[in-house]
Amino acid sequence: MELIDGKAVATEIKQQIAEEVKQIVAAGGKRPHLAAILVGHDGGSETYVANKVKSCAECGFESTLIRYESDVTEAELLAKIDELNNNPEIDGFIVQLPLPKHINEQKIIESVSYKKDVDGFHPINVGRMSIGLPCFVSATPKGIVELLKHYNIETKGKNCVVLGRSNIVGKPVASLMMQKGTDATVTICHSHTQNLKNICKNADIIIAALGKPEFVTADMVKDGAVIIDVGTTRVPSTETKSGFKLKGDVKFDEVAPKCSYITPVPGGVGPMTICSLMINTLAAGKKIYYR
Ligand code: GUN
Repeated sequence: MELIDGKAVATEIKQQIAEEVKQIVAAGGKRPHLAAILVGHDGGSETYVANKVKSCAECGFESTLIRYESDVTEAELLAKIDELNNNPEIDGFIVQLPLPKHINEQKIIESVSYKKDVDGFHPINVGRMSIGLPCFVSATPKGIVELLKHYNIETKGKNCVVLGRSNIVGKPVASLMMQKGTDATVTICHSHTQNLKNICKNADIIIAALGKPEFVTADMVKDGAVIIDVGTTRVPSTETKSGFKLKGDVKFDEVAPKCSYITPVPGGVGPMTICSLMINTLAAGKKIYYR
């Protein structure tokens, strides 16, 4: 069994980005600039956004964090998004999800210009991705495919089972895995799937993204399978300073010995997600996909 070290891969890619940014700036080009909107004080979102800002510094990007209290109105958010859409200094921006219930999340996602949508959540980017056109691909799916490539893990013709059908991970990662070049045969399982255990047992690659801690157990995994664990449920813990720890969707201790490759939580998919956002921000700065 080989542990997939997402943290090390992400560090390597961020160093390459920093090198490229240095050259861009030295040649008189613009330093990429990412803005992030954070609403409220959800612990998970606070951590993710802090890590995104930190990664921007590591890559040599400018970053701007815009904060609102959770009673911000939808109109105020839409006005800020409109301002960012029209500000040539900002190359790309994200609105950290989830948003408070009184705000229509889909409306917010669709109000971000697809040209600055480095999260790849806008329907234009989702649609372009699904038909294989150049676009911003959402960060977690992109990070997963990068990891598989980095470790030279064969995907062509392999049975890939995706657990979960979220718009952020399940659906887009399934779409990427079956695309030309990746060439996996993909099955998506969700809360209404029958015979889930048997379907998993037949998988060469399992991508677990349902947000249910330790859902995938050893009896669901074929010998030699590749396991990608996207779960990041925060559970209380007395072992850490912060008072919580992240739990994956896979029962790591019993599943790991059966695998050829497995991602740990933390340190697997998580760091790659942020790294993909950095790749997208560099592409936004270089106006690679859209002018
Ligand atoms: N919430 C959970 N994952 C993400 C992400 O990738 N981007 C944003 N904006 N919010 C998230």
